[in-house]
Amino acid sequence: MTEREARARADELRAQLEDANYRYYVLDDPAITDAEFDALLRELIELETRYPDLRTADSPTQRVGAPPSERFAPYEHARPMLSLSNTFNADELRAFDERVRKLAGADAPVSYVCELKIDGLAIALDYSDGSLERGGTRGDGRVGEDVTPNLRTIPTIPLRLRAPYPAFIEVRGEVYLRKSDFEHLNAKREREGLAVFANPRNAASGGVRQLDPKLTKERRLSFFAYAVALRQAQGDTGDSGDTGDSGDTDIATQWEALEALRALGFHVNENIRRAASIDEVIAYCEQWEARRDELDYEIDGVVVKVDDLATQELLGSVARDPRWATSFKFKPREARTTLTDIVITVGRTGTLNPNAVLEPVQIGGVTVRNATLHNAEYIASNDIRIGDTVLVTRAGDVIPRVVGPILSERTGDERVFAMPDRCPVCDSAVDHPVGEAMSRCTNAACPAQVFERVRHFASRGAMDIEGFGDVLAEQLTQLKLVRDIADIYALDAPTLASVPRMGEKSIANLLAAIEGSKTRGLARVLTGLGIRFVGEQTAAILAADFGSVDAIGGASSEDLQRSEGIGPEVATSVRLFFDQEANREMIERLRAAGVVMEGAVRRRAAEGALAGKTFVLTGTLPTMTRDEATELIEAQGGKVTGSVSKKTDYVVAGSEAGSKLTKAEQLGVAVIDEEGLRALLAPH
Ligand code: IVH
Repeated sequence: MTEREARARADELRAQLEDANYRYYVLDDPAITDAEFDALLRELIELETRYPDLRTADSPTQRVGAPPSERFAPYEHARPMLSLSNTFNADELRAFDERVRKLAGADAPVSYVCELKIDGLAIALDYSDGSLERGGTRGDGRVGEDVTPNLRTIPTIPLRLRAPYPAFIEVRGEVYLRKSDFEHLNAKREREGLAVFANPRNAASGGVRQLDPKLTKERRLSFFAYAVALRQAQGDTGDSGDTGDSGDTDIATQWEALEALRALGFHVNENIRRAASIDEVIAYCEQWEARRDELDYEIDGVVVKVDDLATQELLGSVARDPRWATSFKFKPREARTTLTDIVITVGRTGTLNPNAVLEPVQIGGVTVRNATLHNAEYIASNDIRIGDTVLVTRAGDVIPRVVGPILSERTGDERVFAMPDRCPVCDSAVDHPVGEAMSRCTNAACPAQVFERVRHFASRGAMDIEGFGDVLAEQLTQLKLVRDIADIYALDAPTLASVPRMGEKSIANLLAAIEGSKTRGLARVLTGLGIRFVGEQTAAILAADFGSVDAIGGASSEDLQRSEGIGPEVATSVRLFFDQEANREMIERLRAAGVVMEGAVRRRAAEGALAGKTFVLTGTLPTMTRDEATELIEAQGGKVTGSVSKKTDYVVAGSEAGSKLTKAEQLGVAVIDEEGLRALLAPH
């Protein structure tokens, strides 16, 4: 390539990158994937490295991040918040290592710290005399937004440091949203008819930028700390790259910095590792790329940092990136493809769920053919049309979702989607309640609803009928052998023999499993009924408090709300269910079939050592799961609830305990660890 050609190409790349940035940050309508953006940026960096004359001050390679918004006061960073160079494979990591060792000097042994790259947003926190003074977003790396009141609502950001602490300290890290909290948030927003978020990062980033801190708090954000800078006084900048000035303290390595952060009361990710060689780094990267779905938060790579701070300082940084760190990027989990159709499935409660039919596309090693579109409101507000080229993401165990259309690819042949007025399964009228995002089929006997209800009833979290999977549920409902959940208990061998592919052995096994399900207990039955908003936890609370289906069915909305964690929404839904004649009849048939609907186990337990005591579990206990702890507590008559209030007797806190612990401390509720719990459980 001649220099002229290089210049032309660089101009072209700059235009593309600027456009992509504009669409991403300003229009919120990304036209290319992150991976495509990275590829363009790398090509430009390579060109500018080869022909330094081409580098201009306004080149996208000189830009660190998004421009700060004007809604918040500016937060000036004492030292720029750098970004990271990217590596995509083992060879590039080796090249990084070679460069580091060359610059560090041949005789200096180089070791690394590997950290998970949390997919959230970077923030900086200033502590003065141990208390949180100010916090801000990264912004463009020099100036971010002052979002102090919002950051104060995040339970894992300490408002006071644990002693001993230095006079001034700046802590940096990542605000993120747990996948489980993200799913809850979206489910709630969906119920409330609000727009859902495409991914946890967007929800976290929007959450930090709320004008009302109450709204930030509702998002249930979390924080991992990963860097520290000590300063003599405010404004007096540390000078050792991003990680800190070893100055008058004994912090000499990134590892020690992370340990110090932990001691100050921060959450530091538990999966950090020290690596003595680049081979160990590579092994770590490969391991976490394979294991990322095990985590309850999103990661998009690994950050590799030179451990020794003096070496970091020696290496310094170029333009936007430090030379002493790099990020290893996992294979992208988003891609663009064509939305060929939108089809409707009907859910358990009759909701009409629009699903995207996609031109099959590989995302993170999986072929994606379908993705959720949530509801009509989501489709309309994102202006998604049939025939569009769309951006699709797949995040861990979260179902793939269509993020939005790529408007620049529109040809004019796309079709606007409209929710049908009749149920695509049973042709009954569809109700589009005003103010609700969801449309619903009005026919409770709709085969699609029946199938979903039957499948749910038999599923593991509910009655756990082994061998009663999706296929069987579909066959039985389609053949009209099962018209509601009570019909399951009327099945017999001759009837089942008429179902395709049901042999004698599987029939016998299935009937035994159905029989066995009759004594699962009240909480499981309640879960299985599929009452809106009554999941496993709520069912367990109702079962423990009321002791029988009849008592729950006879309780007023006010009675129901006296239970811990039961609000008006749940209470109304329970009442609606039991007010329906058809549901009461179905329950009678379950009872007649011998399904146990009293909480005999819990009732007797109410006489145990923990009778009348209410517990809340938080964090990870060293040797037992939450389910096990719950079982032990309940076996002795205690009650486990989901949220801390004045009525709570004990909060059992494990590692990584979050907001519940803070709340307990505020309310003066007793906090115990697993050992304390065991002591209570032990017979006196
Ligand atoms: S260190 C110079 N450590 O990744 C060092 N960053 O492109 C810069 N991130 O904006 C940051 N987890 O939002 C670092 N353990 C970690 C990280 C991490 C996530 C994010 C951070 C930053 C981006 C770097």
